[in-house]
Amino acid sequence: MRVIEIPKIGDPSVLRVEERPDPIPGPGEIRIDTAYAGLNFAEVMARKGLYPDAPPPPSVLGYEASGIVDAIGPGVEEFAIGDRVMVLSRFGAHASKVCAPSAHFFKIPESMSFEEAAAIPVNYITAYHILFRVHRLLPGDTILIHMAAGGVGTAAIQLARTVPDVTIVGTASAAKHDFIRELGCHHPIDYRREDYVERTKALTDGMGPDLIIDALGGADWKKGYHLLRAGGLLVAFGWANMSQGKKRSPLKTAREFFRQPLFAAPKMMQDNRGVAGVNMGHLWHELARLRLEVVELMRLYEEGAYRPIIDSIHAFEDAAKAHIRLEDGANIGKVLLRP
Ligand SMILES: NC(=O)c1ccc[n+]([C@@H]2O[C@H](COP(=O)([O-])OP(=O)(O)OC[C@H]3O[C@@H](n4cnc5c(N)ncnc54)[C@H](OP(=O)(O)O)[C@@H]3O)[C@@H](O)[C@H]2O)c1
Repeated sequence: MRVIEIPKIGDPSVLRVEERPDPIPGPGEIRIDTAYAGLNFAEVMARKGLYPDAPPPPSVLGYEASGIVDAIGPGVEEFAIGDRVMVLSRFGAHASKVCAPSAHFFKIPESMSFEEAAAIPVNYITAYHILFRVHRLLPGDTILIHMAAGGVGTAAIQLARTVPDVTIVGTASAAKHDFIRELGCHHPIDYRREDYVERTKALTDGMGPDLIIDALGGADWKKGYHLLRAGGLLVAFGWANMSQGKKRSPLKTAREFFRQPLFAAPKMMQDNRGVAGVNMGHLWHELARLRLEVVELMRLYEEGAYRPIIDSIHAFEDAAKAHIRLEDGANIGKVLLRP
């Protein structure tokens, strides 16, 4: 098989396409012939040495892929060779063959393309989990989505629209506003030019949003907490502010670290506000629950409630270009890799 390897921490030029022996599925495992693999911000952070969950280099990362089942290990009954599936993988998905326990695979509807399927596992399960498991989005709620034009952001906009009468405020650079407005974001904010705190306050008659989904981190978590309406929840699920710039900067990392707020339960009680954390990479022991979320996502897809947004597709050999696209924040929606 062919894999995208990160041989060492560095800029995108370190990425290599390597040949490896095809994995053989063991008991309870299946293998796919990969159609597409998803690239996530996590892998860009990992390449820069800023993602503590990643295995140390040399490593093959990748949390998700789509494809056709081409080998089945002993004891697997729910899948057959030829099934169209997507996989949520604990790394190793940036490969032309992905082998994992069968619990990590999900059959996809006939009407779903392999491109769409590779764009779903990380972005849509994360967005669904935040909106409907960690929070309970209700009719009439207002939600502030940071990084609204990214993979998770576009998923969150579409899924939030499945609840009636939800007002969506989203931060994104100005060039992406038409796109996210079309997708269902009522109030795009150009966070580079406008103070999103003041604008969101003005949009909510000073009350603030019921839910903020924030993968920016640091000082933004602090601002977000103080912006929340009573009963509101800040969901912290990433720290993209750590990653700005092409290279890891220990000074910037330290500065960002010290800008994070400290949340204390008594203060949250007095404020009637809450903070929750989400890290899908630490939910492998909850796959049975996540499967229920995927069932719901597949139902919503078949109803036409959302369509994954594909930004661009890059051959494995062009993995560096794909990384640069995410690193530069040029993408709208999902960046895919094709073996
Ligand atoms: N905890 C979890 O389980 C989990 C799961 C998935 C993703 N995440 C996190 O969620 C975040 C978004 O992921 P994604 O896949 O949606 O990202 P993405 O598709 O790469 O989109 C990120 C977009 O956010 C905007 N942005 C605003 N401020 C930024 C900043 N400080 N640094 C980088 N981008 C910034 C950029 O667009 P503009 O042009 O609008 O600035 C950029 O294109 C990442 O931090 C990721 O690690 C966490």
